[in-house]
Formats: sequence, structure tokens, C-alpha cells
Amino acid sequence: MTQPSPSQTNQASEPAYLQRRQERIRQLAAELSDRYPSPQRLTLEAGCGHGHFLTAFAENHPHAQCMGVDLVSKRIRKALNKRDKRDLNNLHFMKGSLHEWLQALPAEHALERIFMLFPDPWPKKRHHKHRMLQPELLSALAQRATPNCRLHFRSDHAANFAWAVEQVVQHPSWEIQTKEPWPFEHSSFFQELMVKYESFTAINSSPTR
Ligand SMILES: C[S@@+](CC[C@H](N)C(=O)[O-])C[C@H]1O[C@@H](n2cnc3c(N)ncnc32)[C@H](O)[C@@H]1O
Repeated sequence: MTQPSPSQTNQASEPAYLQRRQERIRQLAAELSDRYPSPQRLTLEAGCGHGHFLTAFAENHPHAQCMGVDLVSKRIRKALNKRDKRDLNNLHFMKGSLHEWLQALPAEHALERIFMLFPDPWPKKRHHKHRMLQPELLSALAQRATPNCRLHFRSDHAANFAWAVEQVVQHPSWEIQTKEPWPFEHSSFFQELMVKYESFTAINSSPTR
């Protein structure tokens, strides 16, 4: 389970923390500029873990530019190994926090599809603020998303799933889409461990880009 984000503690306002954060964003932006010299429409997996799902998605969608982001370096190293073994040049993985990665993403790029698969459920009520799908993240994603960008969410944790649906329903930029089938089936690392799970797709309805 991931640790509470420093942005949710007092540490977030300390100058040394802010400086390190700016430096991480600068490094992510530099890597993104190297990786994508021209404007791209990206498929993002938020919290990609070991990259099982996105590697299979990229292999099956050679025209999609796929990007996985995760906080844990070891998972990103494993994901990059998978990519390299298959020699996929439409797939990349980066170590970082999703919020920082979104800030680093150069303005000419946009998200056309987002997967959020089995995010940590943070079951205790006092920890709900650490769940990944927060209203602030939905706003940040909508600002960088194409109109009609799809957000695909899946969870084995019923309470987390209901909570995520609620966040989306209450958000002005995203609408739950009930008619579309799940776009691509391939078990993620966590999905392999789960017997039951639920999914939804939401569409970016804000005309920002
Ligand atoms: C339960 S795992 C699921 C991994 C993968 N999606 C799967 O289904 O196998 C959740 C992942 O989200 C990552 N994560 C949590 N918060 C994150 C954040 N703010 N930014 C990037 N990754 C995050 C964790 O490091 C972890 O690898």
C-alpha cells in the first residue's frame, strides 16, 4: 500500500520539499520532451504497477502511444524490461507521482485514454483522502484530456468502486458511460489475484481542449 502523499501533510509547504518537487517535475518534463519530440495523443495508465496490462494493450494497439506512470521504481524497471523484450516503440513507463507527471506533461500533448486499474483501496475512512481518484485528480486529468477522452476504472474493492463512481458523478468534467464495453481485456498483475471486480468508463465532457 502506498504511503500518504506529502501534499496531504505539513511537509508539503516546506521550501526544501517544494524545491525537490520542482526538480522532480523538471526531470519528468525533460524525459517527456526527449521521448515525444512532436505532439502526441497518449494512452495513460495511472498506477501501472509492473506494466502487464499496458504492455499487452500497446502490443495490440500499435498506433496508440502508451505511457504508464507509477510511484515505485522497481515496478517501473520491470515494466520497462517487458517493453524491451517485446521491442515496443509505442510504449514507455515513467517513475513518478501522477500529479507531478501531469504537471510535467508539455502542453502540446493530450490524453486520449486513461486506465486506472485496481488502485489501492485505502479502506479506512480516515485514509480515503489517499485514494487515487480524487476530485482534484479528475480536474487535472480533464485539463490534459481530449474531448471525449475515456477514463476506464476497475476495482475489486466494492466500497472503493462505489466511492469512485460517486466522485465521477459529482464531477462537472466527467460523465459515466454505461453503454460501452470494456475496451481491452488482459489481466493486470492485481487482476490475476482477484475473483470479482467491477468496472466503469467515463467520458471527458469538458470542452477545454
Ligand atoms: C494496487 S496497485 C495496482 C497496479 C496495477 N494497476 C495492476 O492492476 O496490477 C496500485 C499502484 O498504484 C501506484 N500508485 C499509487 N498512487 C500513485 C500515484 N499518486 N502516482 C502514481 N502511481 C501511484 C502504486 O505504486 C501501485 O503500483
